[in-house]
Amino acid sequence: MKKLIAGNWKMNGSLAANEALLTAVAAGMPAQPVCAVAVCVPSPYLAQFQALALSVRGLSAIDLGAQDVSAKASGAYTGEVSAAMLKDFGCRYVIVGHSERRQYHAETDALVAEKAQQALAAGITPIVCVGETLAEREAGQTENIVKRQLAAVIHTNGHCISEIVVAYEPVWAIGTGKTATPEEAQAVHAVLRAQLKAATDHADRVKILYGGSMNAANAASLLGQPDIDGGLIGGASLKANDFLTIIAAAAV
Ligand code: 13P
Repeated sequence: MKKLIAGNWKMNGSLAANEALLTAVAAGMPAQPVCAVAVCVPSPYLAQFQALALSVRGLSAIDLGAQDVSAKASGAYTGEVSAAMLKDFGCRYVIVGHSERRQYHAETDALVAEKAQQALAAGITPIVCVGETLAEREAGQTENIVKRQLAAVIHTNGHCISEIVVAYEPVWAIGTGKTATPEEAQAVHAVLRAQLKAATDHADRVKILYGGSMNAANAASLLGQPDIDGGLIGGASLKANDFLTIIAAAAV
């Protein structure tokens, strides 16, 4: 399976910084596509990406993603952005259920499942994030937590589940510089793969990404694991050289 390297810029960037970053990444992209590449940008910058993709050489090889989507289709939901709006701006992906949304915006498993459903209905691939906190890991709850989080999305989305991307992001590894070891990550990915297999005959085509302090130095060993099909990259996706090194690591 072709791997996917997706950058999650989180709430970072500016018109000037984005243009410099995207120009540098596009210039360094391998001539032959070795893996799928995407960047998930803050919503106000979706239009900027779309415009730059027409003029910056090589940028068309990078797919556009958003970082969140409303669980509602349209209407009186002030501040929300619908899946149809993301589609209007050419989004191929949208992250749903990132731990920062679960933690700071009290997003529940059921809400995340509805967001995934909205994305799928609009023809956008949801990148569904799951992951345990440090306390949950230490209590031996990792497997239960990630299975519960994924089960809600499977329950709501039925046979469409083969169209999602899953991202395993241990909360204790996000932005901390502490990465899961390749073996720790692989063990959880194998659990998620088995859960997908029980839900669909097409589980082998569901990409399961790892996220959490993935960087230029550790990407190759993580991406070398049998059930790690790519990465969801936070901090390192804001540095062109680091992001390009991770993309190169996904080729081997
Ligand atoms: P970092 O790569 O900065 O740890 O962030 C990971 C992440 O949360 C990606 O969604």
